[in-house]
Amino acid sequence: MQIAIDGPAGAGKSTVAKLVAERLGFIYIDTGAMYRALTYLVLQKDADPYDEENVYTIQQEMDLQLLPAADATSCRVLVNGEDVSEKIRHPDVGKAVSVVSSHGRVRWAMVALQQELASGCNVVMDGRDIGTTVLPKAELKIFLSASVEERAKRRLAELVQKGHRLTLEAVIADIKKRDHIDSTRAISPLRMAEDAVEIDTTDLSVDQVVEEILALVVRRENRV
Ligand code: DC
Repeated sequence: MQIAIDGPAGAGKSTVAKLVAERLGFIYIDTGAMYRALTYLVLQKDADPYDEENVYTIQQEMDLQLLPAADATSCRVLVNGEDVSEKIRHPDVGKAVSVVSSHGRVRWAMVALQQELASGCNVVMDGRDIGTTVLPKAELKIFLSASVEERAKRRLAELVQKGHRLTLEAVIADIKKRDHIDSTRAISPLRMAEDAVEIDTTDLSVDQVVEEILALVVRRENRV
């Protein structure tokens, strides 16, 4: 069974997707982490995120590994052998990742890799274009949404916990900018698949969202 979870930044996708995967014993694939890993490498090489050709070359040379972490609810991200799991969450990576992930050649290569990772597996995959492009035949498609303010508050809490000092206004501005780039890019923009179930998580706890998705899984299984 393939479960696709899409939605904008801060809607709670990765937290929820990890827990759903754990409860079902499925593999979890964080596609945002894959774009973030590439962005980290682009910045490390002092390359221009807007230079599609160069970004694509860096991607072709990149050795990317997603390894399950010890607690089985997250995965470690290795780029050319270096564990960058924490570094890819840095705000600088967050600022540049929408540009890096907007390039067509980069996306097609990444989508092919994601499809390969998911093939033949029971998988929960989260991202922006999973239900529409990466796994269009997924048995269950979820679109998580939440108000911009709520998403910014969640993102800020995460960043503060990691020692970054940012204001809520700055995070709101950043999220709005990323929403705009992610949803207006020419190639597989952030969009809800026609057969997706939308869950507005603004006033829901993580557990409530997880239970709602698990109930949908049971309903899908009973339908088969
Ligand atoms: O989910 P995240 O915030 O870690 O994603 C980081 C960025 O990667 C996000 O701004 C858009 C991009 N992304 C994408 O374009 N397609 C995906 N399937 C996943 C992420």
